[in-house]
Amino acid sequence: MERLTTFEELRAYAGAAPRPLGLVPTMGAVHAGHMSLVERSSRECAATVATLFVNPAQFDDKGDFARYPRDAEGDLAALAAAGADAVFTPPEREVYPAGFATWVRMGGPALPLEGAARPGHFDGVATIVAKLLIGALPDAAYFGQKDGQQVAVVRRLVADLGLSVRVVAAPTVREADGLALSSRNGLLNAEQRRGAAALHRALQAGAAALGEGAGAAEAACRAVLAKEPQVSAVDYVALVDQATMAPWSGQGEAMLAAAVRVGSVRLIDNLLMSAD
Ligand code: PAJ
Repeated sequence: MERLTTFEELRAYAGAAPRPLGLVPTMGAVHAGHMSLVERSSRECAATVATLFVNPAQFDDKGDFARYPRDAEGDLAALAAAGADAVFTPPEREVYPAGFATWVRMGGPALPLEGAARPGHFDGVATIVAKLLIGALPDAAYFGQKDGQQVAVVRRLVADLGLSVRVVAAPTVREADGLALSSRNGLLNAEQRRGAAALHRALQAGAAALGEGAGAAEAACRAVLAKEPQVSAVDYVALVDQATMAPWSGQGEAMLAAAVRVGSVRLIDNLLMSAD
C-alpha cells in the first residue's frame, strides 16, 4: 500500500492509477464498517485510495476532536488488509495551509437534524470532501449509510459543484444486537453498551409502524427509546426524505433517523424505508 501525504502526491497517484479509481474517506479509528467500504471499492474499482484525516473543521466541540481515537499504525494495517492500494494521510497544514480562507457552505440537506445539533459540522465535512474529490478525481466515492445525512450532503455537493463522481452509499455494518459500528461505541460501559441496542430496535419499531403514517412511525420509535433506562436523552427522531432531509411527504424513499445520548456518548443511526 502506497502512503501519500501531499495533494501533489495524491494527484500524481490518481493520475497514473488504473481506472476506475475508488475513494474511501475516513477519519481513522478503523472498524469493520470502514473496512466494508474499502472492500467494496476494491471489488468494484481497479484501484482504491483510502484517506485518513481527523478533520478539525467538522468538530463543533473541540474536546470531542481532542478525544477522537487515533491509531495511525493500526488504521494503516486495517486499510491495507481491506484492500486499499494507497492511503492519503495529510498533515493538518497540508489540508488547511496558513491563511486558509475558502469554505464550502452547505444549505439544504445539511440544515436539519445533525446540522441543527452541530452548527458548522457539515460545512467542515463538505469542505474536506470537496478537497479530496478535487484532489483525487475518483470515478466513485464510498460512504456509509450509517451517516445517512452525510450521504445526502455529499450527493448535493457533487451535484452543485458539477463533479463527475459516482457516490456510493454502502449498508450499515452492525453488531449482532443491531448496534451500528462506531468509533464512539468503545466509550460505553457494559450496561450502556447493552442499552445502546435500543436505538436500532426503536428504528425497526418505527419502520414497522410506517404503514399508519409518519407520526405513528416517529411515535413507535420514541416509545422504545423511552423504555430504555440507559438512553438519557433523545436529541431527535425524524422521518425525512432521503435526499433532501425535509420532513417526509409520503412520496419517495424515506429515512427514519434518530440521535440519542447513552450516558455522555451521542449515538446516531437510521433506516431507509418506503411506504409500500
Ligand atoms: P468516519 O466517521 O471515519 O467514517 C468514514 C466512513 O465510514 C463514512 O462514510 C461513514 O458513514 C462510514 N461508516 C462509519 N460507520 C459505519 C458502519 N457501521 N457501517 C458502514 N459504514 C460506516 O464520516 C466521516 O468519517 C467523515 O465525516 C469524512 C466523510 C471522512 C469527512 O471527514
